[in-house]
Formats: sequence, C-alpha cells, structure tokens
Amino acid sequence: AKVTVVGAGNVGATCANVLAAREICSELVLLDIKEGFAEGKILDIFQTATLMDFDTKITGVTNDYSATANSDVVVITSGIPRKPGMTREELIGTNAGIVKSVATECLKYSPKAIILIVSNPMDTMTYLALKATGLPKNQLFGMGGALDTARFKCYLSKALEVNSNEVEGMVIGGHGDTTMIPLVSKATYKGIPVCECASAEVLEKVVADTMVGGATLTKLLGTSAWYAPGAAAAYVVESIVRDQKKVVASCVYLEGEYGQNDICIGVPTVIGKGGAEKVLNLNLTENEKELFAKSAAAVRATNDVLKEIGV
Ligand code: NAI
Repeated sequence: AKVTVVGAGNVGATCANVLAAREICSELVLLDIKEGFAEGKILDIFQTATLMDFDTKITGVTNDYSATANSDVVVITSGIPRKPGMTREELIGTNAGIVKSVATECLKYSPKAIILIVSNPMDTMTYLALKATGLPKNQLFGMGGALDTARFKCYLSKALEVNSNEVEGMVIGGHGDTTMIPLVSKATYKGIPVCECASAEVLEKVVADTMVGGATLTKLLGTSAWYAPGAAAAYVVESIVRDQKKVVASCVYLEGEYGQNDICIGVPTVIGKGGAEKVLNLNLTENEKELFAKSAAAVRATNDVLKEIGV
C-alpha cells in the first residue's frame, strides 16, 4: 500500500518512521511546506533502514502533491501544535485553512484515499475537512481516541501495577482536555472490571491524568508530544492497509448514533480497508451518556467557531 503523511513535523515524521520501520506500507511519501524539511526527515529515516532492517520505499517532498498520487491512505498532521498553557481549541484559526487546503489538494491526486485527520483541534478539523471535501463518512475520519486510549491504558496499568498489555479500555468523546471520556466502567484487567481491582479514588486519578495526558507532556516538553501521537496514527493506518478491523475510538461523523447528529466525535469504530467501516454501539451508563452529551456540546461550540472565522 502507498501512504502519504502531510506535515513532516514531530508527529508526521514519527508516524512516517513507525510506518517505515514496521513496513506497514510498501511506499511512503512525506510532504511538508517547509523547503527541504520532509526530504531531510526522510533521508534521516532512510539511514536507519539497515539498522532497523526495513525496505519500505520512502520519499520526502516539498509541497509536490503529484508525488502523493494514488495513495491508499493520507494522514494529515500539518498545522501548528499547542504550546504550554494552550488548549487544542486555540489552534483553530491557523489550522483550519491548512487542513482544508491540504485535504483538497491530496484528493486531487488520490481521490480514493482514506483520509485520516490528526491536526488539532482534531474533532473540528475532521468536521471541516469532511464538509469541505464532501467525502463519504467512512473515507475521512480523525485520530484522537487511539492516542487517548493508549494513554488511559498506560496510566491504568501503572496504577494497578500490571503490564500495559493486560489492561483493556477505551476513551470516547471529543479529543480535548475536558471533552474526552475514559470509560472506566468498561475497562478491564485480564477480563476483570478495573472497578473490582482498584479503589474509586485511584481510578478517578487515572481518569484525571488521562484527560490532561497531552497537557502534561506539553508542559514538560515545551511543545506537544510526538512518539505516542505518531505511533497512534500509524496504528490506525495499519488497521486500514492490513484490513485488520481493529475497534478503535475514532472521530467519525454521526447520524443518530449516541443520540448525536451532524458532528464528528470519538466513538468505537471498526477500522479496515474501507476506513471507518462501522460505528459500534456501546451500552453507556447514565453518567457516561451525560458526559457524552456535554462533550458533543463542547465540540459543537468549537465547530461553530469555523463559521465565525469564515472557513
Ligand atoms: P510540528 O510543528 O512539529 O509540525 C507541523 C508541520 O506541518 C510543520 O513541519 C509545518 O511546516 C507543516 N505545515 C504547516 N503548514 C503546512 C501546509 N500547508 N502543508 C504542508 N505542511 C505544512 O507540529 P506537530 O507536533 O507535528 O503537530 C502537528 C499537529 O498535530 C498539531 O496541530 C497538533 O496539535 C496535532 N496533534 C494531534 C494529535 C491527535 O491525537 N490528534 C496528537 C498530537 C498532535
């Protein structure tokens, strides 16, 4: 499969590195607007080929969309990341124009590509890109829940003092510090509900840490994180190109599911070669239903900013 990653910054280059090193695709193009930047990142990644033992064909280009032609998947990470103290929502003014133009440009050369939106505020960028391109909802969706879920599982395993691959869980809702919903009621350790393995206090802290997982890193690093975000995007790409049908919390357009309409927000979704193939219906608790409605209202308020800024 051929995959294009737009934006050769921290997240895009890390995603490209994982895709290449794990040979998730046979061909990879990394594109950035900054002259020579994607070329440099690709040269650096290429020089790991004999060390990491991979032979994915990789190319870096400066704004040359013809090189991306016939991609099966396009990952959009272009735009600015947040700085310490900023929310993801504050990035909307700059990133809306970038995401809209990049998605349109990519589709000219790869009309059948599955488009994965990563740029923040991701739920709103996904909604914008879907409306701007007019693509069917399975073909364009956003990545946020894969990352938030990975963070949730890490914090959970640490709190329970077990291996991270022994815990299951999911984070749905918006991809924001206050909008994401780590589903404690559904989380398990070796199949046992975590509510039976840890105190409510411990689990409350896991939820709180997960929700500010990104902000914690932004504070430590001075800019937003990249290893987990890049790997999370590659994880979703893998499910598409290998048609794995993984169930991943993904930002998809809802038409009645979870009581919501005309919004892109994180829900459990089967990811395969058709992209976001099917939204799964979880049995949410009353509290979770309430949180989801609140989350959707917040995402909708950010979507409304698009109209205000005229994008
Ligand atoms: P970065 O600043 O390191 O990289 C962004 C890259 O985009 C830069 O190299 C820049 O030159 C490029 N770019 C800007 N405009 C472009 C255009 N029109 N065409 C092509 N390339 C263009 O930022 P980083 O850390 O890689 O983050 C990228 C985005 O991903 C941010 O918006 C960030 O908030 C978001 N993000 C989303 C996550 C998620 O889970 N959805 C997780 C982490 C970050």
